[in-house]
Amino acid sequence: VSETGSLSIVVLGASGDLAKKKTFPALFNLFHQGFLNPEEVHIFGYARSRISDQELRDKIRGYLVDEKNASEKSEALSKFLQLIKYVSGPYDSEDGFKRLDKAISEHEISKKTSEGSSRRLFYLALPPSVYPPVCKMIKAWCTNKSDLGGWTRIVVEKPFGKDLESAEQLSSQIGSLFDEPQIYRIDHYLGKELVQNMLVLRFANRFFLPLWNRDNIANVQIVFREDFGTEGRGGYFDEYGIIRDIIQNHLLQVLCLVAMEKPVSLKPEHIRDEKVKVLQSVIPIKDEEVVLGQYEGYRDDPTVPNDSNTPTFATTILRIDNERWEGVPFILKAGKAMSSKKADIRIQFKDVPGDIFKCQKQGRNEFVIRLQPSEAMYMKLTVKQPGLEMQTVQSELDLSYKQRYQDVSIPEAYERLILDTIKGDQQHFVRRDELKAAWEIFTPLLHRIGRGEVKSIPYKQGSRGPAEADQLLEKAGYLQTHGY
Ligand code: BG6
Repeated sequence: VSETGSLSIVVLGASGDLAKKKTFPALFNLFHQGFLNPEEVHIFGYARSRISDQELRDKIRGYLVDEKNASEKSEALSKFLQLIKYVSGPYDSEDGFKRLDKAISEHEISKKTSEGSSRRLFYLALPPSVYPPVCKMIKAWCTNKSDLGGWTRIVVEKPFGKDLESAEQLSSQIGSLFDEPQIYRIDHYLGKELVQNMLVLRFANRFFLPLWNRDNIANVQIVFREDFGTEGRGGYFDEYGIIRDIIQNHLLQVLCLVAMEKPVSLKPEHIRDEKVKVLQSVIPIKDEEVVLGQYEGYRDDPTVPNDSNTPTFATTILRIDNERWEGVPFILKAGKAMSSKKADIRIQFKDVPGDIFKCQKQGRNEFVIRLQPSEAMYMKLTVKQPGLEMQTVQSELDLSYKQRYQDVSIPEAYERLILDTIKGDQQHFVRRDELKAAWEIFTPLLHRIGRGEVKSIPYKQGSRGPAEADQLLEKAGYLQTHGY
């Protein structure tokens, strides 16, 4: 990290689930790898519970000891924990935030390397309902006041609202307090290795340039599955459903990177300009191009109403009305309690015209990017079956990261994204107009689902989801290939 000066990282909601599962582990890993300089950094937890610095440290140690190689890391862990301080207070209290500011200022003064500049990063690991009061308090009491430079940045997580209107309201509230370059909206899918690889793949490879369009591509699928249900999160989930939880953000962001035009440069604004254009070119979703599902047993959760129509599965077809993509269905599919845990992008090419081998039934060319688990890219292609006969067979050109990059450990999405917030690189964060355009696509459908006009079809836990979804894919022109 090139900038110097004291760096204060404040985790608000320090005892919550996100902080425990993602934020603190990511901060520790960054520290362990030397990206957080103990001469400059201090980490502050802020939350309502009245606990001491030591109690928070003990809690965090508890979150981190399950980590792989815990003993090897234990010395680093002790040093890391020493950087953590705790301030307790409500999320709308002047007094609490004044005390937080005092604690940060003391740290800044104590860091000789800072030369007076002050970098303050506020990570809101909190429900969005408290974003407005918390941002107000930070703005009023805790922003960087040093004349010698530095910055104040805010990191927020989804859900950013529930529909276009509520998201815009939230954006205006935060936007009236902080400028866009200060706001980092996390979509952690943008921190995944193979998502970050997408632009390189598309724009640094001659192979793909002439093929990446409606003349050659029959359809694109972006699929997310989890093999567990909403265990313990039923209350949250029922308010949001799978479209808001996964499709409107994670899968749509991936779609943007698959579909966008080449940006003018790699500057974050240039990249985000192109993503916005894709979103603005998506035409309204038709109900007949949507299949919703709800797994059997979902309503057994006491926090879920007995008559809930909330989808835990959805397949939706998006159509991009531009020169490159007109007529190509983009199939976005996500489900909980399915047969496997997987996220991938499948680009299916059109049939070869004039099939002299009569091999097309074996399957089309398909390019698959497996985001997780076991990151990989593979191309399905037709080859001659080795041997005396002239038979064709579908085979694969396979780039599996574990085999190819044995010595590289792939960083966690949150590590990269937190590091980017410190560096001030907004490329992998969602801009306000992007967020708005994403909500514009899904809000009408979400409102129809809310009114019960589109129903969720029951499906068995551990299955592929409702059969209607596979039928929809077939109708959209997806040719099922062997083994998938
Ligand atoms: C979160 C969703 O954003 O992403 C969860 O709220 C989901 O419901 C999670 O489980 C999946 O993330 P990952 O990185 O495990 O694919």
